[in-house]
Amino acid sequence: MALRNIVTKEDKILYKKCRPVVKFNDRLHILLDDMAETLYKANGVGLAAPQVGILRRAVLVIETNVDEGEEEFVIELINPEIIEASGEQVGAEGCLSVPGEYGIVRRPDVVKVRAQDRNGEWFEYEGEGLTARCFCHEIEHLDGHLFTEKCERMLTEEELSGPSEEE
Ligand code: CO
Repeated sequence: MALRNIVTKEDKILYKKCRPVVKFNDRLHILLDDMAETLYKANGVGLAAPQVGILRRAVLVIETNVDEGEEEFVIELINPEIIEASGEQVGAEGCLSVPGEYGIVRRPDVVKVRAQDRNGEWFEYEGEGLTARCFCHEIEHLDGHLFTEKCERMLTEEELSGPSEEE
């Protein structure tokens, strides 16, 4: 495994539409392994292939809704689509490609995706809360969109450094 460089919002690649993954081979597996290492190193909760310079429809989301004592795990979504969405959540969101900036984004609270795994098998997965938010955010990366387009407002410096987060 190797760390990949995460591109930031100045890079044109983030605004392009990604093509489907058609080959479920070693090259894809290496990409996914590298993306996982890169994601953990960056302390993120999700990462899309275009963020590491690859214009293919592959994303990772860390499932953080696990029972006590259970380990969080990475969900690999290849050629993902949202097939159901319900409820609503409004909260702060950020992106590894937009470091240091956070904004308020309205998202569905429950999102069901259909995707292929690293071997090409189709599956469905339902995420809630942060996981649902990540599914939306990461899948939008595949169509060249950043969360900043959806922000109701960006958080101010004061809000970012304020005491409220420690309460
Ligand atoms: Co992002």
